[in-house]
Amino acid sequence: MDKTEIKERIERLRAEIEYHNYRYYVLDDPVISDSEYDRLMRELESLETEHPEFLSPNSPTQRVGAKPLEEFSTVTHTIPMLSLANAMSAQEVVDFDKRVKKLLGVSQIDYVIEVKIDGLAVELVYINGEFTLGSTRGDGFTGEDITQNLKTIRSIPMRLLETDKVPIPERLEVRGEIYMGRKEFEELNRKREVTGEPVFANPRNAASGSVRQLDSRITASRKLNIFCYAMGQITGVEIATHIEFLEYLRKWGFRVNPYTRLCHSLEEIFEHYNYIKSIRDEIPYEIDGTVIKVNRLDYQAMLGQVSRSPRWAIAYKFESHEEETVIKDIIVGVGRTGALTPVAVLEPVNIGGVVVERATLHNEDEIKRKDIMIGDHVIVTRAGDVIPEVVRVLNEKRTGSEMPFVMPDTCPVCGEHVVRPEGEAIRRCVNINCPAQIKGRIIHFASKRAMDIDGLGEKLVDQLVDRGIVSQVSDLYYLTKEQLAGLERMADKSAQNIIDAIENSKRRPFNRFIYALGIRHVGEHISGLLAEHYKDIESLMEAKEDELMNIPEIGPEVANSIVLFFQDEKNRKTMEKMIDAGVEIEYVREGDRPLEGTVFVFTGALKTMTRDDAKKMVESLGAKTSNSVGKKVNFVVAGEEAGSKLDKARQMGIKIIDEDEFLQIIRGRRP
Ligand code: IVH
Repeated sequence: MDKTEIKERIERLRAEIEYHNYRYYVLDDPVISDSEYDRLMRELESLETEHPEFLSPNSPTQRVGAKPLEEFSTVTHTIPMLSLANAMSAQEVVDFDKRVKKLLGVSQIDYVIEVKIDGLAVELVYINGEFTLGSTRGDGFTGEDITQNLKTIRSIPMRLLETDKVPIPERLEVRGEIYMGRKEFEELNRKREVTGEPVFANPRNAASGSVRQLDSRITASRKLNIFCYAMGQITGVEIATHIEFLEYLRKWGFRVNPYTRLCHSLEEIFEHYNYIKSIRDEIPYEIDGTVIKVNRLDYQAMLGQVSRSPRWAIAYKFESHEEETVIKDIIVGVGRTGALTPVAVLEPVNIGGVVVERATLHNEDEIKRKDIMIGDHVIVTRAGDVIPEVVRVLNEKRTGSEMPFVMPDTCPVCGEHVVRPEGEAIRRCVNINCPAQIKGRIIHFASKRAMDIDGLGEKLVDQLVDRGIVSQVSDLYYLTKEQLAGLERMADKSAQNIIDAIENSKRRPFNRFIYALGIRHVGEHISGLLAEHYKDIESLMEAKEDELMNIPEIGPEVANSIVLFFQDEKNRKTMEKMIDAGVEIEYVREGDRPLEGTVFVFTGALKTMTRDDAKKMVESLGAKTSNSVGKKVNFVVAGEEAGSKLDKARQMGIKIIDEDEFLQIIRGRRP
């Protein structure tokens, strides 16, 4: 080969290798094998070594990292790199949209919605299609020259892809986010742990630490990636919209995020936002929200910016589950088992749309472990329905005026002494008649997943217990409307509703009844096991420890707790009183659908329940209900003054049953 042929071969190889980088790192769709790729690389390397006059800084061989720098030089951005204003709620997005339309004097706007990647912003400059400069955002006006480091990221093109459909601009400034995927982040931290190096707190810190290395060989060893999403200066190409710009980026060979959507209305924006939120955990890199951008570039120019954020874009973030606040005080709550729980009283703080004023501190050992003091600045989390929790103290914010917390030796509610058994983290009030314990037991009994007594909340229970009207759960079934109506803020109607709710709770599945009793160590799961194993409450009450321990998953502690509970004369009395009051346990387990495939029709008034309740009951057992008598109906339940449906059922020969027979069916004893 002569010189020109060698030069041509080198350039061909470079273009080919870059194309395969693009297939592999941008499209995730390689067209050649690793060994073929290696062969091309080796050929290029040897040609470049033999002919150093053809070396080029943008050769794919230069991506492995170069000589370490002394320091980064500064880069002034042609157009400042702005930051985004945040919308924390849907309302703030609605306000943004209104503002945009008002400023432009138009009634419809197209927006592009993208994911907000949690990494660091960089700018890439291409001159006549060649990558010439890469920089960090810095303070927005000037950043650092990290060209060497960015070259190690294979998804950043060294040269723009040339296709006949897109022109190559003279100057192109592209902005994007450098990030590290979750898996890559974990892998890096695992390695660092092994070598004793400090681990990174999150993928963003890892990405930022990796990109700001003076030794680009270190950057090369970290698995970084990029998504491009914004423009700086572009000369020589006419582009009208943001979505069109993203399309250009794709064609030039940049990585553009796939979760991008052009929306014609706010509804579409919210729909896509919710979609992204729903798949957030499946996305292999961290995102902290979305970015909404006005699509038309002329509109963007008209809207301009305020301070350092554009008026044409907004970050619509996901709710944060963590916020900073201050612990004003630490108080102690007493639960239904007498457990004393320290609770942080917080400076109210909005966490993801809910104002949080309390957070559990669990127990004194936890307070010690996390080194929590009254007056501390702390990070609090809230996840779904879970009780808010203090994650950590911001030590750097301590002033010296914080006060240590000491657990009390007596019950803060009844004054009785408390004990902390050996090996346990929890102190307990020994007084089982402690009002806090009584209230706790009743609230648990009435709770949704137990007896589900609607309306019997904390405030009402407080009053009932404090006035001595109720002291054990069975008392609920002897309450009168008059007693309730005498309480604070209790209208006649509400009193009746509560009486009805209590009445309705008289029939509950066996497992829920067991759970409602609040036996220590017997939660929903163990209750289910017991209900499966014992045919009725009487046999459970007589169960011996060794027999209980034969049930898989039930150990000595649980067995002992169950036996002790039913041995207690007071508990036996309470059960008796409930049964006397008409509490009937359903011996069909929840989730069973013994009536699957049957259809019921109700006609006339029932004596012991409303028709709606009766319908719900059979439906919960898997049956269907219908309002009219037809061929598919299996049972017609006839109450008092049943009308034409009864006649029709007779004519069609459908089985007619009365209320008692109906009750037998739902109790699992078919007539
Ligand atoms: S657009 C003027 N789009 O968020 C608008 N930024 O607070 C320039 N970011 O500094 C940014 N994903 O680091 C834009 N799809 C996206 C983004 C995004 C992440 C980051 C970027 C920027 C910051 C703005």
